[in-house]
Amino acid sequence: MRNLFAKDSKKNDEENLNLDRLPKHIAMIMDGNGRWAKKRGLPRTAGHKAGVEALREVIRTCSELGIGYLTLYAFSTENWKRPVDEVSALMKLLVYYLRKEVKELHKNNVKIRTIGDISKLPQNSLKEINSAVDLTKNNTGLVVNIALNYGGRNEILNGVKGICQKVKNNEINIEQIDEDYFEEFLDTKGVPDPDLVIRPSGELRISNFLLWQIAYSEFWFSNIFWPDFNRESLIEAIMDYQKRDRRFGGIK
Ligand code: IPE
Ligand code: IPE
Ligand code: MG
Repeated sequence: MRNLFAKDSKKNDEENLNLDRLPKHIAMIMDGNGRWAKKRGLPRTAGHKAGVEALREVIRTCSELGIGYLTLYAFSTENWKRPVDEVSALMKLLVYYLRKEVKELHKNNVKIRTIGDISKLPQNSLKEINSAVDLTKNNTGLVVNIALNYGGRNEILNGVKGICQKVKNNEINIEQIDEDYFEEFLDTKGVPDPDLVIRPSGELRISNFLLWQIAYSEFWFSNIFWPDFNRESLIEAIMDYQKRDRRFGGIK
């Protein structure tokens, strides 16, 4: 069993982490910012700002542990229903975060990608995202997929439309369509399915996240609000994951 930490480390939990059995792909529903703020008598946007700090720590930890992929649910296709002020604050925060962090992420060999229809985002957000994706495109470390204007149903529908077009153009036969072929039409093309899906905030639902890809994912729910989620929370989730018996429909 590989172990990163010295024997005298105070991080007892981390000492027990099996580095040979880490999830390859962690998907994270970053939820609970609003309630975190409300509890403190602050505006919801203060919760989103605090959430950025949690994000920084989670990316750093995943990168240090050698996790392959981290997919972050940042803005859903349904989040447009929120008041314009909140939507605009979230978009501004994204620009602020990328501007501030991209150099450091690049230095740490992190590759930034997005899933979802980013064409609907404001111009300056789009510009910042594209430049971060471009700058980090040749990096070989942690892949961070940011889900922006992402919805699992929307992604599946787009895949179906793409395949219909291929059939219409006589480029493929219907019989040739199998799961591997379908996955080529998803935003997550080339990314292994998430091994572990984490949702803080106390909600026990998936909220239209990665519907196709989570067929055999392990779930970890917690009452912690996203801004309070830290390195220890992540280690705890991974250690729970390591106790799971994944059978994929088979028997042991
Ligand atoms: C998650 O926190 C951030 C986004 C959905 C963009 P919320 O804003 O959903 O916080 P709660 O769930 O209202 O507490
Ligand atoms: C899911 O959280 C979306 C993101 C974290 C980006 P929501 O707060 O939008 O989900 P619901 O509305 O509680 O299901
Ligand atoms: Mg929420």
